[in-house]
Amino acid sequence: MTALLDDPLDAAALLRAGALVAFPTETVYGLGADARNAAAVAEIFAAKGRPHFNPLICHFADADSAFAEVRADARARALAARFWPGPLTLVLPRRADCRVELLAGAGLDTLAVRVPAHDLALAMLRAFGGPVAAPSANRSGRVSPTSPAHVMEELGGRIAAILDGGECAVGVESTVLDLGAGGAALLRPGGVPVEAIEAVIGPVGRPLSPEAAPAPTLRSPGLLLSHYAPVLPLRLDAREVAADEALLAFGPPLAGAAITEQLSLARDDREAARRLFGALRRLDAEGRRLGLRGIAAMPVPGGGLAPAIRDRLARAAAPRG
Ligand code: TXA
Ligand code: MG
Repeated sequence: MTALLDDPLDAAALLRAGALVAFPTETVYGLGADARNAAAVAEIFAAKGRPHFNPLICHFADADSAFAEVRADARARALAARFWPGPLTLVLPRRADCRVELLAGAGLDTLAVRVPAHDLALAMLRAFGGPVAAPSANRSGRVSPTSPAHVMEELGGRIAAILDGGECAVGVESTVLDLGAGGAALLRPGGVPVEAIEAVIGPVGRPLSPEAAPAPTLRSPGLLLSHYAPVLPLRLDAREVAADEALLAFGPPLAGAAITEQLSLARDDREAARRLFGALRRLDAEGRRLGLRGIAAMPVPGGGLAPAIRDRLARAAAPRG
């Protein structure tokens, strides 16, 4: 049985006992465990079916607690001051006395850290008082959850509890930025636009497009090409749609689809990000019920959160393998 919790103190108590607890953040729901507890961290990988080479993000109540585990330079401190709490994850060198289990970081000498901008998450993290390792609370390779119902669909029965914070405000995961020796590099576009990061620390190395960089690299081991996959095939940059397809619309919808979900009629990138994963889930479920051939996605051009949306759609459309 997976319990639905209202009180972040109950969630913290379960974490202390070594249990897995899904909790809301501003981006997506995370599947949390005590990052200092090897057995609890191993349970995360098992519950998600996640490969052990894919490292987890550690969540903290504030920047000082995060920087007690990793070495922060001036760039990291400037970014934390500007964007935390918020949807930015920093990959930094582990300190020699870092308490986070090596398994949580997939054995790397770096650790990904962030302070989420969500009142319930912060209350839970403060009460818990230690690092909480948390990937998105979905089965590995599937669409990230942005509501407690999504988490229940993905992991119900496999985890102790879900802290109920309703729908997530941002809707796509955090931006992952590597601040290692090679200079700042964007590992995953996300909730903080890269332009906003560059306004603080100057030029950031951009990733290759998901299509151009199919293999996970040592620097970003988790960037598997096929990810966020609905069960129905997804077709990108649709300019027309067939009667046996579901449509993911952005702006005035193409005519003729069997069913349609609108990301943002006004083409607002933030509204579209908030609606993205829920819309994909609904189209997939309803499309399968109706026996449709697949999902056609209209182009989502522009900057801001649009690059994160395009990244998730490209991964969702990639061949499974
Ligand atoms: O918004 C988010 O980031 C959500 C919420 C729950 O905080 N979490 C999330 O976690 O999206 P996950 O596990 O689904 O994605 C973490 C990403 C993966 O692509 C992983 O490879 C990368 O961060 N990552 C984690 N630690 C890393 C490290 N030490 N070096 C490079 N990449 C790392
Ligand atoms: Mg994920």
